[in-house]
Amino acid sequence: MLVNGRAWRTVWQPDDDPGAVHVIDQNRLPWELAVMRLTTVAEVEVAIREMVVRGAGCIGATAAWGMWLAAREAGAGGEFRRGEFEAAGERLRATRPTAVNLGWAVDRMLRETTDAVTAREAAQRIADEDAAACAAIGRHGKGLLEGLAAGKPEGSVLNVLTHCNAGWLAFVDHGTALSPVYAAAAAGMAVHVWVDETRPRNQGARLTAWELGQQGIAHTVVADNAGAHLMQAGLVDAVITGADRVAANGDTANKIGTLLKALAARHFGVPFYVALPSSTFDAGLAAGVGVIPIEERGAEEVLWMEGPDEGGEMRRVRVVAGGSGVANPAFDVTPAGLVTAFITERGVCAPETGAIARHLGLR
Ligand code: MRU
Repeated sequence: MLVNGRAWRTVWQPDDDPGAVHVIDQNRLPWELAVMRLTTVAEVEVAIREMVVRGAGCIGATAAWGMWLAAREAGAGGEFRRGEFEAAGERLRATRPTAVNLGWAVDRMLRETTDAVTAREAAQRIADEDAAACAAIGRHGKGLLEGLAAGKPEGSVLNVLTHCNAGWLAFVDHGTALSPVYAAAAAGMAVHVWVDETRPRNQGARLTAWELGQQGIAHTVVADNAGAHLMQAGLVDAVITGADRVAANGDTANKIGTLLKALAARHFGVPFYVALPSSTFDAGLAAGVGVIPIEERGAEEVLWMEGPDEGGEMRRVRVVAGGSGVANPAFDVTPAGLVTAFITERGVCAPETGAIARHLGLR
């Protein structure tokens, strides 16, 4: 995607810095577009855990590049120490529990890697495939948006609501939920995006709004609780979200608050689409509700908010007084029955076990 006219990926291995992986530091957006240089697998572990990189596909690709760094470390001084390489994979896998792309990427790297050279090739493949899958999701999703636009009076704007950030920042490029929006806008469709702020870390307000602004897409940031009201008023034509892990039956884990949007969408007859690459399906999990591991993050994310003051100086302010208990579940699971359809790089798929298995080529 272009930022100020320059093409960016979220994670890459630059030719002119042969021992390092570069990532966009998402903790500094939208206030600053900064690149962080990672040179050890330990640094990659911290970057994933502290959400310098976040979003299922971006985490997966960064873990793959982390495994390349691990392979370099395991091969230093001669013989490739496979045990050391595998142990690094287990540490990376443990950094965040919900997005299945992380473990999927580690497993692929373990399968496809025999040394640092094959590790570099495999990590590049994973990154390139992620970008290609997201571009294809855009093409398939654009067809759905065109169908919805055709049902509206000529000249009207199509309103899409999204939650969290499932744009290009959450993947290597293009994104999932926002990829159809980018494709539709590029084809000339008048489209507007309602952006849920997505407390507590505000990925919507900070990242999705920045992304859409950079691409020149009309958008409006709303408080997380505004969605149902907007749907009731007829101001939402479709909800599109991403996913962090989808079970074989279509139960969908995504950022906390997604389930509330799905419930409201069902009540008001608004289509609820989930866009994801095949790598986000966890075919080994028959169903997801109560089973997909839900990350519990630190209380400080709820207790504090950060941003620049009027003078541009970064501030942290406390928004909950002392003495209250705090819980911070970072994801929820939307039952498959609330999903209208999945949009993947393979096309559009019904949220049902048989259809998903056929879609993924598993039967
Ligand atoms: O905690 P995050 O920011 O890594 O959350 C994951 C997500 O980005 C969202 O749930 C998103 O909608 C899924 S698509 C990557």
